[in-house]
Amino acid sequence: MQVLVNEHAGALLDARAADLGDDIQLVRMTPDGRLLVEGRERARGDVQPEVAFASAHVLTDGSAPVWLALLDELPSLRWLQSPAAGHLAFYDALLARGVRVTGAHVNAIPIAEYVLGAVLADAQRVDEWGRARAERAWRPHQFREIAGTTWLIVGVGAIGSAVATRAAAFGAHTIGVRRRPIGTEPVDEMIHPDDLLGAVGRADVVVLAAPATPETDGLVGEEFLATMKPASVLVNVARGSLIDETALLAALDRGHPSRAILDVFATEPLPADSRFWDHPRVVLTPHSSAGGTGRHARVADLFVENLARFRSGRPLLHEFGSAEAVGAEAQAAPDAVDFAVAAEIEDEARRRLGREVWDFIGGGAGDEDTLVENRRAFSRFSFRPRLLTGAPPPETATSFLGVAVATPLLVAPFAGDSLLHADGYRAVIEGAARVGTVAIVPEVTAEPLEALGRAARERAAIFQLSLRHPDDVLVAILRRVADAGFAAVCVTADAPVVGVRRRDRGNRFSAGSRMVLGNFAPVAGQAPSFMGGGHSRPPMSWASLRDVMAASSLPFAVKGVLTAPDARAALDIGAAGVYVSNHGGRQLDGAPATLDQLAEVVDEVGDAGEVAFDGGVRSGPDAVKALALGARVVLVGRPAAWGLAAAGADGVARALEILHEELVATLALLGVAGIAALDRSALQTHPSAGPGGAGGGPRE
Ligand SMILES: Cc1cc2nc3c(=O)[nH]c(=O)nc-3n(C[C@H](O)[C@H](O)[C@H](O)COP(=O)(O)O)c2cc1C
Repeated sequence: MQVLVNEHAGALLDARAADLGDDIQLVRMTPDGRLLVEGRERARGDVQPEVAFASAHVLTDGSAPVWLALLDELPSLRWLQSPAAGHLAFYDALLARGVRVTGAHVNAIPIAEYVLGAVLADAQRVDEWGRARAERAWRPHQFREIAGTTWLIVGVGAIGSAVATRAAAFGAHTIGVRRRPIGTEPVDEMIHPDDLLGAVGRADVVVLAAPATPETDGLVGEEFLATMKPASVLVNVARGSLIDETALLAALDRGHPSRAILDVFATEPLPADSRFWDHPRVVLTPHSSAGGTGRHARVADLFVENLARFRSGRPLLHEFGSAEAVGAEAQAAPDAVDFAVAAEIEDEARRRLGREVWDFIGGGAGDEDTLVENRRAFSRFSFRPRLLTGAPPPETATSFLGVAVATPLLVAPFAGDSLLHADGYRAVIEGAARVGTVAIVPEVTAEPLEALGRAARERAAIFQLSLRHPDDVLVAILRRVADAGFAAVCVTADAPVVGVRRRDRGNRFSAGSRMVLGNFAPVAGQAPSFMGGGHSRPPMSWASLRDVMAASSLPFAVKGVLTAPDARAALDIGAAGVYVSNHGGRQLDGAPATLDQLAEVVDEVGDAGEVAFDGGVRSGPDAVKALALGARVVLVGRPAAWGLAAAGADGVARALEILHEELVATLALLGVAGIAALDRSALQTHPSAGPGGAGGGPRE
C-alpha cells in the first residue's frame, strides 16, 4: 500500500518504520510538488496512494497549494490524515467523493501546560523577577500558592481534563462543568451548566475550555464577571466567542477579576487598536497554547494507530462525519447535545454516520415492504383509556429469561457496533444498565464475548447466537457464553442467510468486510465474513437446534418467530421463550408486520413460555400496544443503534430513557397500574384497519 506524505511526515514515519508494516511504501512530496518513491522521482500517474498524511509543516513551508492540488487529483485516495483539529473547508470536496478524513486532537497537553504555566507565572509574579533583578534589588517576592485554590473548568473534554489533572497535582480543588458528563471526568466535583453561576463565586481560577456552540456564545458576560471573586483569574483557551469582550474590559478596569489570561480573541489577529494590548490586568498570547514541541510526534503516532485501524476496518480516531471523532471538541460534543425527543438522536446519528453505514442500519430487505409494515401496524390499533381508575403510578419492573429489568424495554441485538462507535457494545451494555435494563449482546461485536460478559458485570446478560456455524462450533460458543457469565441465550432463527439488502448493494457496501468480528478468528485464506469467519453448515432443523441447545443449561428463546406453528415448535424443543421478530424487516421482505402476528403467537404460547417482541417500536405508546397484546418485553434495535452512533453509552441511555418515560406516561393515561395490569382490553382496532386487519383484534 502506498502512503502519500510531505517531507516532514515522511521523516516522522521513517522513525516509526517498524510499526508501519513491511508493505507500506511512502510516496514523498517535496515542497515544490515532486514525488519521490525510494529516492526516485515518479510521475503522478505512476503512483496510487490510498492514504495521505501531512504533518503541520505543510501549513508553514509554502507547500500547502501543491499538496491540496495533489489530493484533488488522486483518484486512488481513500483516506486523508490531517494534522489539524478542526474541520477545514477543503475536506468537503474530499468527503463528497468518498474520501475519509481524520483530524488530529493532539494539543491537550501543550494547552494544559500553557494554562498551568500562565496561572503559576501570575501567582508567583514572575514579571516582577526580571524587574527587581534589573534594579539589583534584593527583594523577596510573596506569591500565592496554587495549593488550596479552587479551579472551575468549563468544558471537561480532553483539554479540560488535562488542565484538571495538572491543577489537582498542585493541590487545587477542581470543579468541572459539562452538560452530559460521561462519569470519568478527572475532577473533584461535576456540575451542570445550569448551576454554573453558583460555582463561579467559589472559584479562584476559571478556565474556559468548552467548544464554541450557540450555548457557550457570550457565556462570560456581565453577570458572570460580577459573580467572579475579586482576586480571581480568568483563563480562555477555548474560543474568543465565549467572552463578551466589552464586558470583560469593563470588569478588568474595576479590577474584578484581577487578571485575564487570554490566548484567543473574538477577532484574530488582535487588532492593533485593541485595548487588550496594553491593559495592565491582561496577559495575552496569540493563540500559542497549542504550540508544544511534542505535537508533531503525537500526530505521527496517531497516524500509525489510525493506519492499523484503517487496514483492519476498525473505526478511525477523529474521523470527520463519523461517530468517533475523539478529541477536545468532539469529546465535549455530548455537552452540546441534550436530546429532548427520540428524533433528535436519530438526526444526530445521521449527521455522524457516513451514508453507507446510515443506510446499513436503517435499511431493510428487498422493497422494504416489511420494514414499512412494521411501523404501519401500530396505527392499526387505538387505545381504550379508562378514566379515574384510582390506579397508583404504573409499575414497570419485570424479567425476561430470568433476567430482572426495571422496564420492559430491552435492546435488541444488532451487529455492526464497530461501525457506529469506538466503545462498541460496551457502551450499549452500559447505556442499557443506566436505565435498569439489559441489551441482548449479538455474536457479531468488535470485542469478544468474554470481555462483554465481564463488562455486564453483576447484571446478568443475554447472548444472541446465530445459526450459521457447524454444530460443534455452536456448542463451543455456547460453552464460552456460559463461562463468560451470560444468563440466557437468544437464538436467531430467521437469518440462515443474510437478506437481500438493496441499499447496501447500491452503495457497494459490504458490512461484513467492514465489521470487526471479535468472536471469530479469521479462517485461513478467507476474508473475515459476516457469516462468522467463513464457516458453513448443513441446513438447520428444529431437531438439530434441539440437539445443539441440549449442550447448554442456559434458558433460551428463539428469535424470529412469526407464526403459531413455529412458536409451538420452539416450545417443543425446550425454549423458555419465543421472540416475535422479523429482524426489523431486514431478512424476508414480504413477511408480515410483527405486531400483526403477536396475538397469534401469544395465544399459542399461553403460559408455556415468555414472549418477547420487536419491530418498529419508536415510542412509548408503540411499546404499550405490544405489551397489551401479550408481549412480556419489547425490544428496540435501530433506536439503540442510533443512540450508540449519536453519543455512545449516553446516547443509548437517553434513547431508552425517552421511550421509558413515554411508556410510563401512556400507562398512566390508560388508567392501568402497570404492565402486569395491561391486557387487550386497552386496545381496539383502528377504524381504518378494516375487519380482522389487526391480527387477533381486541379482546374485551
Ligand atoms: C444494524 C442491525 C443489525 C442487526 N443485527 C442483528 C444480529 O446480528 N442478530 C439478530 O438476531 N438481529 C439483528 N438485528 C435485528 C434486531 O435484533 C431487531 O430484530 C430489529 O432491529 C428490530 O427492529 P427495529 O430496528 O425496528 O427496532 C439487527 C438489526 C439492525 C438494525
